[in-house]
Amino acid sequence: MRVSSERESCGSSETSALDDSAAWRQFDPEGMVGFASAFPRQCDRALQLADAWALPAVSAEISEVVVAGMGGSAAGGDLLQALAEKPAFVVRGYEIPPYVGPGTLFFAVSHSGDTEETISAYEAAKERAAAVLVVTSGGKLGAKAQADGTPLCLVPGGQPPRTSFGYLCLPLLHAAQRYGALSIAEGEREEMLTLLEGAAEEWGPQNPTPENAAKQLALALNDVVPIVYGSSGVTATVALRWKTQFNENAKIPSFFYSFPEMNHNEIMGWEGVQQGSGAFAVVLLRDKAESPRISARFEITKSLIRDKVAIYEVWSRGNHPLARAMYLNYLGDWVTVYSALLRGVDPAAIQSIKTLKQALSKI
Ligand code: F6R
Repeated sequence: MRVSSERESCGSSETSALDDSAAWRQFDPEGMVGFASAFPRQCDRALQLADAWALPAVSAEISEVVVAGMGGSAAGGDLLQALAEKPAFVVRGYEIPPYVGPGTLFFAVSHSGDTEETISAYEAAKERAAAVLVVTSGGKLGAKAQADGTPLCLVPGGQPPRTSFGYLCLPLLHAAQRYGALSIAEGEREEMLTLLEGAAEEWGPQNPTPENAAKQLALALNDVVPIVYGSSGVTATVALRWKTQFNENAKIPSFFYSFPEMNHNEIMGWEGVQQGSGAFAVVLLRDKAESPRISARFEITKSLIRDKVAIYEVWSRGNHPLARAMYLNYLGDWVTVYSALLRGVDPAAIQSIKTLKQALSKI
C-alpha cells in the first residue's frame, strides 16, 4: 500500500527511529507492537471461538440488533452496524433504547466484564426479555451471564481491550449471521485473514520505513492533530476507530467525521483555518467500493482544503466489505502505535481512563 499525499512526499526513502527496535522498545513495556503483530492470529482464533459458540434458538423473530459496549468493546458493534442487513444500533451508555424487547438481538460486550455502563445495559435488556448474548473475558459481566444462563462467548483476557478487536468483533458478526441479521460468505473470512497476514508483514516493525506505509504515515502525522474522514458505510466506523486509537495509543487529540455529511457542515470549519497553520493533518480513508458521487465529493473537498492542511489518503484492499474494513482498521492500529513510539509514550498506558474508573468506583 502507498500513502498518497497532497503536498509533500509521504513515501520516505530514509530509515527512521521506528526501524531501530532498541530505540522504540523502551517505550513499549507491555508489548503493543507484539499485540499488533499477532492480530491476524487473533482473528483466526476469534473465528474458531465464534464457530464453537453454542447459540440457542430464539423464540421471537429478530427485528433489530443492539450492541452495548464502551470504548474498545464498542468498536465491533460499529462494524456490525455498518454491515448488518437488519436495523442495528450501538449503545454507549447506561440506558437502552425503548424499543429493546423480545425481538431484539442484544449483545453486551465488555472485554474486562467490569464496565458499569455495559453491565447496566445488560441488566436492562434482560428485564425487557431481549435475546441477550455476552462477549467478555470474564469479570462481573461474565459471572452474571453464567449465573443467568445467558449465552456467553468467553474470549482471552490479558491484553488491552482495544488490542482485542478480533475477539470482540468476530463473535458478534458470527452470531448476527446465525440469527439472520448479516451474511458473511466463507470466502470473506478467508480473504480477511489473508489480507491481514500480508499487512502484518508489510506494516510490522521488521519492514523498514521506506517500504512501510504505516511507519511513513506515523512520521508524517507527528506533532499534528489528525482529522480522519471516512465515508458512510464501513470506512466511517473505521475513521472513528482511528480517532480513538490516536487518543488511547498516541495520547493525542484526534477527530473523525464522514462523507457526505462533512460536506454539509464540517467543510465550513476549514475556512477558518489559516493557510499553512500546520496544526492539523487530514487522513482520508478511501474505499474502492465508494460510489462515484462520494469519490467526486472527496476530490472536490481536497481541492477546497489542500491549501490549509496536509492531506494523506489511504485506500482499502480486498473484495468483501469485512476484509476491506478490517484492513483499514489494522492500518490505524499500526499507525497509532508507531505515533506513540515516535512521541516516546507507552502506547498501552491509559492512566486517565483508569483514574476515572477508580474515582467513580468510590462514589
Ligand atoms: C482500553 C480500551 C477502553 C476500554 C473501555 C471499556 O484498551 O480500549 O476503551 O475498552 O474503557 O472497558 P471494557 O472494554 O473492559 O468494557
